[in-house]
Amino acid sequence: MITVTTPNGRVGTHVLRSLLERGETVRVISHSSDRLSPTVREKCDVVVGSLDDAATLRRGFDGAETVFWCIPQSRPGNSWDDAHEYHDRFARAALAALTGSDTRVVAASAGRHGYDDQGIVSAFASVEDTINMSGVAVRHLRSAFFMENLLESIPTLASPGAVFLNGPGDIPLPMVCISDVAAKAVDCITDRSWRDQGHVAVHGPAHVSFDEMAVVLSEILEKPIKYVKVPDQALIDNLERVGFPNGFARAYARLLTKDALEAYAIEPRTLETTTPTTLSEWARSTLLPVFNASGQSGQENRV
Ligand SMILES: NC(=O)c1ccc[n+]([C@@H]2O[C@H](COP(=O)([O-])OP(=O)(O)OC[C@H]3O[C@@H](n4cnc5c(N)ncnc54)[C@H](OP(=O)(O)O)[C@@H]3O)[C@@H](O)[C@H]2O)c1
Repeated sequence: MITVTTPNGRVGTHVLRSLLERGETVRVISHSSDRLSPTVREKCDVVVGSLDDAATLRRGFDGAETVFWCIPQSRPGNSWDDAHEYHDRFARAALAALTGSDTRVVAASAGRHGYDDQGIVSAFASVEDTINMSGVAVRHLRSAFFMENLLESIPTLASPGAVFLNGPGDIPLPMVCISDVAAKAVDCITDRSWRDQGHVAVHGPAHVSFDEMAVVLSEILEKPIKYVKVPDQALIDNLERVGFPNGFARAYARLLTKDALEAYAIEPRTLETTTPTTLSEWARSTLLPVFNASGQSGQENRV
């Protein structure tokens, strides 16, 4: 039996669907069974509770051969100011529930890149350490930048035809799409051979800079798109405006600094780390339909 956390999450949805298609027996942990589809309720054992609650996790992990572990990505309105504390409370609950068990863990992570001040990524480095302390076998899946983050830019892609972020435009990074991260998780979950602690980097098929990204998006959206590097403070102000506490907004801003982006190169690309979906394919299959459906594609192009 496999336990899947965040069954409605962006990665978790794909992981769950794929495991069920393979005929695996699945339990999900959800903070509300009302949020689960009738199919999931019918096909899966459901444990209701929060992922930062060790008692819930003990029930959810009990008897599981492998757990897909995902700390919910913080959302606007999240009341935690400190990104480390936010991630730590989930990791500590997992540590308490896993210690002494022989359950394996496949965990969504963002990496450890030898750079201490990397915002959310540094928080994930601590999460990896905390889960390792439990002694269970684990694969931390280290992804860099989800292509799906670009969905947040749909309003500015429409007008003025730009992506505004605080990272330098010329440093290539291994953007990856969420379905490929989930496929890598499922590969690890269904590979019953490993019993040790380790990590797998999850790279898109090519490292792409934000400037190169703008060229790809211009082609797919059939309009000129620019990448615009904004000051860190502008990104922080924007994140605070949509509801993130200041500390969290600062942690997000540190994700894309020059040092942080260069640190992503620390994970070497191999055949095992490389996933198939190119930015161009993802933009055509996922971004373009959402962009068109948003009703913003016809807006005046003011670039
Ligand atoms: N964005 C990036 O570029 C990037 C890169 C590398 C790694 N990551 C990390 O990869 C992971 C990916 O997560 P994701 O985007 O798939 O997650 P997500 O879509 O944010 O999923 C979160 C899900 O967690 C559930 N949830 C929220 N709080 C909960 C709680 N206290 N207890 C139980 N369930 C709760 C929600 O369920 P309901 O829908 O039912 O409310 C939601 O569907 C995150 O840890 C993220 O930080 C992100």
